[in-house]
Amino acid sequence: CMRIIVDADPGIDDALALYYLRAHADTEIVAIGTVHGNVPVEQATANALRLVERLGLGVPVAMGAARPLAQPLMTAEDVHGQDGLGGCAGDEPATTCTGRSAAEQLAARAREEPGELSLLAIGPLTNVALALQIEPRLPRLLDKVVVMGGALTVPGNITSYAEANFWHDPEAADLVLQAGFEDLTIVGLDVTMASHVPGEWLEALPLDSYPRKFLRFYADFYESFLGKPGFVPHDPLAAAIMLYPGLATYREDRFAIELTGRYTRGALVADRRFLAEGSPFGRDIATERTKAKYAVTARHDVFLDRL
Ligand code: BDR
Ligand code: CA
Repeated sequence: CMRIIVDADPGIDDALALYYLRAHADTEIVAIGTVHGNVPVEQATANALRLVERLGLGVPVAMGAARPLAQPLMTAEDVHGQDGLGGCAGDEPATTCTGRSAAEQLAARAREEPGELSLLAIGPLTNVALALQIEPRLPRLLDKVVVMGGALTVPGNITSYAEANFWHDPEAADLVLQAGFEDLTIVGLDVTMASHVPGEWLEALPLDSYPRKFLRFYADFYESFLGKPGFVPHDPLAAAIMLYPGLATYREDRFAIELTGRYTRGALVADRRFLAEGSPFGRDIATERTKAKYAVTARHDVFLDRL
């Protein structure tokens, strides 16, 4: 059984990722941390509480960072709606979040159960970067880490080069990529934009089901953008690849985030030189970073079937 801490900014596709994980018998969500991103963190937290209640998860929700480490807050209501759930969030949650921050929760849970918990990060990486400051041994305490973010060989979805989660907090993402996580998988736009959940899938959901309601706004956004009914399942695909690594193929490489580029800030960059260890060439991604896996292809038909 994989036991997962989810760090998210719900967010419509984040919400669907939680539904997806919930439906897996051999998977347990043990805690949720929220972060700014699609909407301000207070809204993301209220949505996470709503989802925990609706899904009967009974797990703690910790409110995380309200802003990026080094830039102003930017949100994405155009894609997710003012309330982050396409105008369908609904009643105020009946429950409240825990007293500690998402970073404190992540560090504490990892310490309590060393090597037992995995992390699925499907929002900006601010909480994970803060947790690394609280607990520098975090890379050795967590089992598997899967991050949704980046656009390596395809266009970004915010700028030409930057994908939203990394663009929302480039400094945090860069810290995570150099932290030394032993089993780090990055699921970026190279595979998520190649995935598409068709309109018929949405139409087949029960009319009064919560996902059918909250997915409508998101599907409208993607329909206007892609010119066909349906939506792009970024965060659910990352969740699926976490549970079934065989769904994807990977490029193993060393990665960093561009922090100073005039047009490229927030871009995911990879070592492309294949230098030998200890190479005398200048300091570069190759000498500063540990290896991670970046998904390059995915079996979308199998994913869709399971979704
Ligand atoms: C990512 O950004 C957000 O809009 C989505 O929830 C997803 O995590 C895709 O770039
Ligand atoms: Ca997200």
